[in-house]
Amino acid sequence: MSFDWERDFYAATDWDRGAYLGGEAMPDHLETFFERVGVPGSVADVGCGPALVPFELVPEYPETDFHCYDVAPSVVAANRERAAEADLDNLHFSVAGLPDLGVDRRFDLVYCMATLYFVADAERAVAELYELVAPGGTLVCNYPNRHTRAWVNEDTDDQRREAFELVGRGENLLSYERIRELLGRTPRSYWSAVGASDADYARRSSPAVYVTKPA
Ligand SMILES: C[S@@+](CC[C@H](N)C(=O)[O-])C[C@H]1O[C@@H](n2cnc3c(N)ncnc32)[C@H](O)[C@@H]1O
Repeated sequence: MSFDWERDFYAATDWDRGAYLGGEAMPDHLETFFERVGVPGSVADVGCGPALVPFELVPEYPETDFHCYDVAPSVVAANRERAAEADLDNLHFSVAGLPDLGVDRRFDLVYCMATLYFVADAERAVAELYELVAPGGTLVCNYPNRHTRAWVNEDTDDQRREAFELVGRGENLLSYERIRELLGRTPRSYWSAVGASDADYARRSSPAVYVTKPA
């Protein structure tokens, strides 16, 4: 049976409110990116999980609306409850899954970290994420590549290998070049843009890029 985030993770474990990739540094990185591209009026975080980054940034950016999506209903419900308890009116959560999110609006910044690993049609998912970007806006995402596949097959444990089975089989791998072909725009390194290219999580098996959409 394949890995199911709701059944095998959120309903089965005492999950923490962390960020899977980059951990506690990720809110600062996105803040640095805001300084670079301008503070967005609206942000979509797709595959938000426990939403560490939005929960950290929302109080700092009261004029920015954060809309967070995840395929797992229980993490969305827990996030909603926490946002309501803290009176965070500019933070919204909905259940939605890539590659067909069914979200009928656009955002100044679309952010998707550590999620494309789990989507069979990662190419269609990247196109869908870019579709969500408003003219003049930016997509930030990371993706699985051939180095991620090697890491899954050689360097990780059985539990993680199960969750990353699509990557391990090489079924949903992407590259800078493929993203450029799909979107018709040149991706740039997000890690470099936020000054994190030397961080251990910015290794070649965890590439993260940003792509701007013409105004
Ligand atoms: C490794 S966690 C990453 C969470 C968060 N983005 C971070 O960086 O910590 C992957 C998240 O993607 C969600 N997910 C998996 N498949 C998805 C899909 N097809 N569409 C949207 N979310 C998905 C999972 O439920 C999980 O919360």
